Amino acid sequence: MKLRIALVAILMLGLVGALTAQDAKPSGGLEIYSWWSGDEGPALEALIALYSSEYPDVRVDNATVTGGAGVNFKAVLKTRMLGGDPPDTFQVHAGQELTGTWVVANRMEDLTDLYKSEGWFEAFPKGLIEQLTYKGGIYSVAVNIHRAGVMWYIPDNLKKWDIQVPTTLDEFYTTCAALKTKGVTPLVVGEAWTLIHLWETVALSVLGPDKYDAVWTGELSPTSDEMVAVWDAYGKVLDCTNINEDAVGLTWQQATDAVVSGKAAFNVMGDWAAGYMSTTLGLEPKTGFGWADFPGTKGVFMWLSDTFGLPVGAPNPVATTAWLKLLGSVEGQNAFNPKKGSIPARIDAVDADPSLYNAYSLSAAAEWKVDRLVGSLVHGVVANERFTGDFNDVIQIYLESRSSTAAASAMQAFCAQDGACGM
Ligand code: GAL
Repeated sequence: MKLRIALVAILMLGLVGALTAQDAKPSGGLEIYSWWSGDEGPALEALIALYSSEYPDVRVDNATVTGGAGVNFKAVLKTRMLGGDPPDTFQVHAGQELTGTWVVANRMEDLTDLYKSEGWFEAFPKGLIEQLTYKGGIYSVAVNIHRAGVMWYIPDNLKKWDIQVPTTLDEFYTTCAALKTKGVTPLVVGEAWTLIHLWETVALSVLGPDKYDAVWTGELSPTSDEMVAVWDAYGKVLDCTNINEDAVGLTWQQATDAVVSGKAAFNVMGDWAAGYMSTTLGLEPKTGFGWADFPGTKGVFMWLSDTFGLPVGAPNPVATTAWLKLLGSVEGQNAFNPKKGSIPARIDAVDADPSLYNAYSLSAAAEWKVDRLVGSLVHGVVANERFTGDFNDVIQIYLESRSSTAAASAMQAFCAQDGACGM
């Protein structure tokens, strides 16, 4: 008899266990960890407001560490994750930043069941899901697609200076010389990560998409002639910037401000700059600000995606799962993306209500469908976090030596050491 009771009790416990995070009612605290603070915050705040209206019993802690591209956030996150103090959920880029950093280290929960129950295999592009997948498991949910390497400008300023948008690198160098004679910085750069952002954009322009991809799969050596040529071009482009002036102290927003004020003509940045110019500065796309492909990159879309997952040991998996469901829904993506400058990762969200999106976002959404896609380095798609961090040193070596071959060998060494570039 006692044995039977024990068996029934064990069975019931099993049943309770089977009531997964997906079924239970969310309550308690939910720490959402990201680098979207200050004027990067409105899109996340809109999403959180929606969450709070659906789950009023959850106390949301919108925890942020300021710094573009997560430069400061990533260091703090690492300490917390390794110290056994994970947040409930955190911002992480699709691709190697997720899989090659946190998933290989067994720090993330597999979300495949959530993908099945939410119908996400049909809702998200296959190629994107692949970037969230490792050995058959899926480890995060994408809230957006950002485009990196876009060239931003102010149409009225270009008119005033009698400048056309350059479409090839050679045209860019000519434009650069013309702008310098007018006392205008041709291209503004900012703190360290924006230099990697510019490097990957120049690399795409010089190499083209196939060879750019080949760098990350190991088919094109970092010390090849083609890659040395990338560094040569990078040097010429840098000569058109404020690198020897105030670059180090500028955030990406301040670099954007320099374009808006007419101190500089162009900025190469991701389309969070569109979010900043429209949501924060109130400029209208097309008339207030303009955009173009970086010279030599037409028809190629350098993508990245912000995603959130469920870390192993997260304090409140029930509230986190509800958060992930919301950010993966049409409603969630359409609350977030119109303010962020990004487009929804879901394939059906823009069509659900195109009127939410401005002219820039609609053009990005159209190009995302037809362009050749390549992944961003500095925003986590093609290399793990160790390598991206070390690439700062490669840029530094180049800036100090101005030697393309020295930079190429340094890159090769870090690829080997960090297990990147197909090594
Ligand atoms: C990227 C991120 C964007 C934006 C940008 C600037 O890495 O994916 O959403 O936040 O950094 O901080």
